[in-house]
Amino acid sequence: MIWVIGKNGMLAKALAKLLPQAHFTSRNEVDICNFDEVQHALKAEPQFIINASGFTEVDRAESEPEKARLLNAIAVENLGEQCGNRNIPLIHVSTDFVFDGSKEGPYFEDDPCNPLSVYGKTKREGEERLLAVNPKATIVRTSWLYNPKIVGFTETIRKLMEQKTELKIVNDQVGRPTDVNLLAQALLKLKGKPGIYHYASEAPRSRYEWALEVWRETPGICKTLISIPSDEYPTPARRPTNSVLSTLKFQSL
Ligand SMILES: NC(=O)c1ccc[n+]([C@@H]2O[C@H](COP(=O)([O-])OP(=O)(O)OC[C@H]3O[C@@H](n4cnc5c(N)ncnc54)[C@H](OP(=O)(O)O)[C@@H]3O)[C@@H](O)[C@H]2O)c1
Repeated sequence: MIWVIGKNGMLAKALAKLLPQAHFTSRNEVDICNFDEVQHALKAEPQFIINASGFTEVDRAESEPEKARLLNAIAVENLGEQCGNRNIPLIHVSTDFVFDGSKEGPYFEDDPCNPLSVYGKTKREGEERLLAVNPKATIVRTSWLYNPKIVGFTETIRKLMEQKTELKIVNDQVGRPTDVNLLAQALLKLKGKPGIYHYASEAPRSRYEWALEVWRETPGICKTLISIPSDEYPTPARRPTNSVLSTLKFQSL
């Protein structure tokens, strides 16, 4: 049996299409912040585990740092330790937001981390804690997830284009959008491969360029897309200006 944590999330839903026999749990079924519940779930002796859960609301994490840390770091360490004790392979998902964006060019797996936000800091702490207790664990950092049919940035933009005649989109955050269905496939290829891997599926672009692509396909009632710098669109969490992930290590497999 394969156990996937985070049943109702974007990634878990993509995994469900590839793993129809797997056991998917929501936080109501197994809250991974509750160590007893995790221990109980592991009694079913899963063949391997994918942790697709996370405190993923980047801006909300700024005002709820302890909740974010509990799920993104402390719970990950516990899960990793318990998997290590039982020799169960674990794939854990992390983020491009562990980087500060100051590098010119793509980020490699061993580049220094310096997260700018609570979300990024707690995800990085989760990586460090996990590898300290379970060096055999697999960590896959990914970026800008979207599902072509359902959710993510493209869908948010599409909805806004149905409501507004003018949209302002930031032009100084550059990253690699990732089709969540391709990420799900990549995770399965990385099973049992220890260490950190980067996975992203598309070429780098700015948020503005990405929005422009959506606009060309489905402009809705939106007549004008305005490109703006991030400081004209303040958010509670700071985001890296460059979070382009190099996927050479994954490709070399
Ligand atoms: N979305 C992105 O653009 C992006 C970018 C880079 C990295 N990532 C990483 O990719 C992973 C998956 O992201 P996603 O966008 O699919 O996340 P998501 O849609 O926000 O789903 C996260 C899921 O975590 C589960 N969860 C929350 N608290 C939990 C708890 N205490 N115990 C067990 N499960 C809990 C929830 O599952 P239930 O609702 O079923 O309870 C929730 O649906 C995360 O690690 C995220 O950090 C995402």
